[in-house]
Amino acid sequence: MVKYLGSKRTLVPLIRDIAAGLPATTAADPFTGTTRVAQGLRRAGLVVHASDTASYSEVLGGAYVAAGDDVDRAELRRLLAHLGQLPGVDGYVTQTFCRTARFLQEHNGRRVDAIRAEVDRLGLEGTLRALVLTSLLEATDRVDSTCGLQMAFVKAWSKRSYRPLTLREPVAVDGPPGTIARADANAHAASGALDDVDLVYLDPPYNRHSYFSNYHVWETLIRWDAPPHYGIACKREDCRSTKSAYNSVPRAWGVYADLVERLRAPWIVASFSDEGFHRPEAIEALLASTGREVRVVAVEGARYVGARIGIHNPAGEVVGTVSHLRNRELLFVAGPDGAVIDAALGAAERRRGAVVAPLRSP
Ligand SMILES: C[S@@+](CC[C@H](N)C(=O)[O-])C[C@H]1O[C@@H](n2cnc3c(N)ncnc32)[C@H](O)[C@@H]1O
Repeated sequence: MVKYLGSKRTLVPLIRDIAAGLPATTAADPFTGTTRVAQGLRRAGLVVHASDTASYSEVLGGAYVAAGDDVDRAELRRLLAHLGQLPGVDGYVTQTFCRTARFLQEHNGRRVDAIRAEVDRLGLEGTLRALVLTSLLEATDRVDSTCGLQMAFVKAWSKRSYRPLTLREPVAVDGPPGTIARADANAHAASGALDDVDLVYLDPPYNRHSYFSNYHVWETLIRWDAPPHYGIACKREDCRSTKSAYNSVPRAWGVYADLVERLRAPWIVASFSDEGFHRPEAIEALLASTGREVRVVAVEGARYVGARIGIHNPAGEVVGTVSHLRNRELLFVAGPDGAVIDAALGAAERRRGAVVAPLRSP
């Protein structure tokens, strides 16, 4: 699984258990990122409609949310074997991300260039293309030389960057296939795309860290548009202009409130970190103002991967250590019937032991 800021890897079992306790058979995940939560909901039997503004999320969703059991796995393995033995060539990735910046070692960057070009030459489309690009993205992530964010690379090559890039077959996720879209969450909701689901899971960015800038290497790997770049990290030129309102202090609350007010689904599960922009009480009041009953639980968790290894400057040098390594994730569960939510939370707590501590009594 790829390294991702704000990924809900540790929360997935809990969210899945809560969703399984609610009367929901369809769900939307409009900030799907790595698709980890969408996969968890799918495994719980829900049909999931995932979306995100990131190109790489669209590819990951094609592989893990939308792919059904009609995928020709033999053909996929044949393709991965073909791509995996291609000799490396010099291209945009080698020049930009191995020589100008140092995200990958050349022996791997040259293979990425060869594989990515071959995917387009073969004219792969649809699910097969998503599966192959997911395999390449995950393979690249396993041999990169970053601390989890692509704002910087580490000064000395990471240990894993010496390993040869290996394409693995993305796993087939159990559960009914859903859909994936590349869309702004508010525009998607305004178009009615989220209207017919039973449950919406909300996990927007909660601070100033731009996902587009932090994962610019993946964005370029998927778009394959060889963009002009700037700075030590060779960020795409359009990182300067591609901004999410959810990362902006003056705009974040307005877009979040607008989104919540547009939701027609009876059930909402919303994630927030207590290190985020918004006060928990404000989120709770917003959800309650829509006529839903609301419960809030706090989950202790390890902080994102960058925080574990200290603060780095753009050259990858450690310039400080973070003040604490644990934060508190908050889950807000809202819906028409508080007793149903309490029963779902109770069942999830019993399954998850002491992980969940109620923030306030219902
Ligand atoms: C906290 S992350 C979601 C993490 C995800 N739940 C996971 O476990 O991987 C927030 C996501 O919101 C996306 N995003 C940012 N602004 C957005 C917008 N306006 N509409 C939709 N997605 C957006 C980012 O690309 C990022 O993937």
